[in-house]
Amino acid sequence: MHSRLHAHIGTLRQLEILLAVYEHDGITAASEALHLTQPTVSAQVKKLTNAIGTPLYNQVGRKLIFTDAGLATVATARKVLDQFAQLDMQLADLRGLKSGTLKLAVVTTSKYFIPHLLGPFCKRYPDVDIQLKVGNRRQILERLLEGSDDFYVISHPPEDTKLEKIELLPNPLVAISAGKHSLSQRKHISITDLCNERFLMREAGSGTRYAIEEFLRKKQIELHSNMTIESNEAIKHAVMSGLGVSILSAHTLAFGGKAGLSVLNVESLPIATHWYFVWQREKPLSLITEAFLNHVKDEGKSNLLRELQRMGVPWQ
Ligand code: PGA
Repeated sequence: MHSRLHAHIGTLRQLEILLAVYEHDGITAASEALHLTQPTVSAQVKKLTNAIGTPLYNQVGRKLIFTDAGLATVATARKVLDQFAQLDMQLADLRGLKSGTLKLAVVTTSKYFIPHLLGPFCKRYPDVDIQLKVGNRRQILERLLEGSDDFYVISHPPEDTKLEKIELLPNPLVAISAGKHSLSQRKHISITDLCNERFLMREAGSGTRYAIEEFLRKKQIELHSNMTIESNEAIKHAVMSGLGVSILSAHTLAFGGKAGLSVLNVESLPIATHWYFVWQREKPLSLITEAFLNHVKDEGKSNLLRELQRMGVPWQ
């Protein structure tokens, strides 16, 4: 007779711990994230492994390679914990409280403005906790597929009928050079001129890179010399030091971020992209998420636009 698995599994906490080990890619990082000791995390994962009766992952060097059984357990853990998170929200909603956690995952480039939307919201709802994940476009799309968060901020959302999206803000991509670069003196620069310079590009998986590659593909222009750097700030410093030129979101230049750099007058630029709030249609929005989206619609967006204008986002 088959015994029922759930009777063996100790606690939801074990599932939560396994999920953290998977998401943080290791016992050490998971224990830090959960504020537990490493032996506690190891012991709980061991108990869960014994209950499941088969290894959940193998350690290869410093990397954990999850087995099929491990991946299936992680997927179930995610669903079970998600259900509890939803129950938590429903109970909070029933109590009429705007308390709980707002979980959002945003692309690295939008971190320049998202906090300016969250600040005023948190002032209005001081009992709300914010959980903000930041990653490049590919990482955020993975989280969107898994449904790990309440909603997501990306540009170029996938064409998918299962997704809801709200257009949020323009995200113009502008060409930049060092302040003293010879191109910065020119009134008209062709794309070819720009692409003849050493070009500093974000990593594969970045939304900024995706937009630049699409733009150049349409113009049938190839980059000659290309160097990959995984962060907007690192690119800005490399450009500032005269290592090359780049195209980045104008948002990266606001709030004093333009020092030492020039925005170049390149034909057909800026590349006009937009940011969107995106979420899975089938996942019900929590009261807090709705409150946040309403806050953005009612005042957050217009206040932010004004603030960005004041802080020097060069829209054109
Ligand atoms: P990125 O995304 O930070 O991955 O480049 C920006 C975007 O999606 O516009």
